[in-house]
Amino acid sequence: MRVLFATAELAPFVKVGGLGDAATGLIRALRGRGVDVVTVLPDYGTLPMEQTGEDRLAVPAWAGAARVRRGTLDGFGEVSLVSTPAMARPHPYNDEQGNGWPDNDLRFVSFSAAVAALTDSIVPDLLHLNDWHTGATLGFLPDPPPNVFTIHNLAYQGWSDGAWLSRLSHRPEAYEWYGGMNPLTGAVALADAVVTVSPTFAAETLRPETGFGVHGALAARGDRYLGILNGIDTKVWDPAYDPHLPSRYDATTVARRRENGRRLSRELGLGADGGPLIGMVTRLTGQKGVDLALRAAETLPSLGARMVLLGSGDRDLADAARTLETTLPDHFAFRDGYDEGLSHRIFGGSDLYLMPSRFEPAGLTQMQAMRYGSIPVVTDVGGLHDTVIDADAQPDQGLGFVAAVPETGEVADALHRAVRGWRSTRRRGAIRMRGMTRDWSWDTPSARYHRLYEEVISAR
Ligand code: ADP
Ligand code: GLC
Repeated sequence: MRVLFATAELAPFVKVGGLGDAATGLIRALRGRGVDVVTVLPDYGTLPMEQTGEDRLAVPAWAGAARVRRGTLDGFGEVSLVSTPAMARPHPYNDEQGNGWPDNDLRFVSFSAAVAALTDSIVPDLLHLNDWHTGATLGFLPDPPPNVFTIHNLAYQGWSDGAWLSRLSHRPEAYEWYGGMNPLTGAVALADAVVTVSPTFAAETLRPETGFGVHGALAARGDRYLGILNGIDTKVWDPAYDPHLPSRYDATTVARRRENGRRLSRELGLGADGGPLIGMVTRLTGQKGVDLALRAAETLPSLGARMVLLGSGDRDLADAARTLETTLPDHFAFRDGYDEGLSHRIFGGSDLYLMPSRFEPAGLTQMQAMRYGSIPVVTDVGGLHDTVIDADAQPDQGLGFVAAVPETGEVADALHRAVRGWRSTRRRGAIRMRGMTRDWSWDTPSARYHRLYEEVISAR
């Protein structure tokens, strides 16, 4: 089976958030199952691809001259990098201030037109599109190959001006959304199957209050809309081989983690014996409940705990974090930015991991934390509901601590319960062991995608 897999991110080369990780993890796992995956992404100029050829692509004139560089990439097999004049930018989505490029509509509709053009030469058995960046592809294909559309983040839909509708060559009415064009809802309407990245998020998005305005469009797809929980790449995320960790360990040598915790506290300038260290690695956005975490963090001294936040994004949240760091220098550390190495050291050195999301399609960092033996404290939403079992509610199966709703009081309460649980060596050992030994890999999810591909192909 030959699959053309279209994505705007591919970890570790182009990664803003979990989309890059999910694309890489799924592609590798599918290849392991014998699926012939050709990956297509915008040519950001940063991929160490072994080039084998270059061609022009037949796209509409408004997109400008489009080209594709073909080649192979270690661990990924065949890759096609497409470029249109609007695509060439240093960051996939944002300028240096963190604001979206003003022409992101042109950039990603032209990327989608290029993906559509590529299906002529690649002739896939199945086309797998990911997020709104690729959603317009089906609007350029009168006779598309069997296809699947995965929604990683419903909060971003790529809505733009209605003028774009006239540039689509196929079923423009499917993309019409409140006088404009919505690449996400167009793909939801036209794809053979629509997937989102956890079963609970799939169910939440069918409800008006948590459906991001598109619950009706999703519900209209009936059983062709489903949730498949993401995995993590357990080769990349393996504390036994992680080059970023000062002290490596696995479930049988977990005492070696302590050295990581000591070094991390020292690196951050936090007192070494001030109680458990709570980690957080995140984009700074409303989605991630960073404001809730900061308010809960005000109680760190009375809680007898310390916390580190590594994050990049919203300026106001970064300012609030800096202020808290000045107020509580012994208890709270903030590192502003994207830092792969520090993120691994936080997973491998923190005792607890906080993720109080307001919504969460899947979430990868809670799984990374559990794999590394840091006990998660999460809200009961989306993929967090599907991955973390509360250790007070289910003592024999608990994997972490769950706040019922994304509100400061509930999050602070869950943190208190977590610190109490952590103080019992026996409980913390049992919770940690369950998290470290559970299968978080892409094995099961990739088998589900593979089966879905087969169903979609045979239904044609
Ligand atoms: P989302 O995709 O919504 O940002 P996920 O939990 O699915 O959230 O994935 C986020 C990915 O990005 C994880 O691999 C996480 O480790 C990484 N990440 C997020 N913020 C940072 C940061 N500031 N520095 C390093 N890695 C980060
Ligand atoms: C999105 C979601 C996150 C998910 C990731 C990968 O960015 O916010 O929950 O894990 O995509 O699918």
